[in-house]
Amino acid sequence: MSNYPLRRWQRAEASLAGASTGTAGAGGRVLSNQVQFSLVSRGPLAEMLPWAQRTGHLVMAYSPLAQGLLSGRYGPDRRPSGGVRAANAMFLPENLTAAAPLLDTLRDVAAAHDASPAQIALAWLVHLPNVVASRGGSSVAQVESNAAAADIRLADDEHRSLTAAAEAFRPLTGVSALPGLVRGRRA
Ligand SMILES: NC(=O)c1ccc[n+]([C@@H]2O[C@H](COP(=O)([O-])OP(=O)(O)OC[C@H]3O[C@@H](n4cnc5c(N)ncnc54)[C@H](OP(=O)(O)O)[C@@H]3O)[C@@H](O)[C@H]2O)c1
Repeated sequence: MSNYPLRRWQRAEASLAGASTGTAGAGGRVLSNQVQFSLVSRGPLAEMLPWAQRTGHLVMAYSPLAQGLLSGRYGPDRRPSGGVRAANAMFLPENLTAAAPLLDTLRDVAAAHDASPAQIALAWLVHLPNVVASRGGSSVAQVESNAAAADIRLADDEHRSLTAAAEAFRPLTGVSALPGLVRGRRA
């Protein structure tokens, strides 16, 4: 499944289980659901992930680096050019400014592991039981570096400090982000 809210995921599995008792011979578990999940999109932490952990399902995180925001490469004076990120409010100058403390925390933890901020953002995700990350990379070097992040073990206090820094980041989203996105399209 992809982008299924928890209830829909559960309903889909219940329907398939019902089908398995019928004559069609279908059925089985709906093992995973791919959803947006990263330090800055933590929605699955509330209900979906606890349920997946209790019941042996997998949450597959897409955009685990928030389309590159969590790599620490971008800031208000260095914004990504065009593409899907032009429509992503996270890359508005205001949000890139507000993200600075979170990116600094990522850099601090990265320095302690001789790793990159992107690797630490991925390690934060896969530190969580029953989470796998669907990583994007725009070069072979990025793909290799992202794969190596699976070997990083974060201490619990590092995980907590990253979560706290992420919770303190309050980006403009939804309607509040619209004026900035429109301004960006006109520029
Ligand atoms: N199911 C769905 O609805 C859905 C939706 C969206 C995406 N996806 C899938 O999820 C996967 C990942 O999505 P995403 O591309 O948004 O993921 P992402 O990992 O959040 O962002 C990928 C971007 O992060 C930067 N990056 C990646 N590795 C890096 C590294 N090691 N160091 C520095 N920067 C790095 C690159 O951007 P730069 O250009 O800055 O280098 C890359 O293009 C894709 O396979 C995609 O198909 C699924």
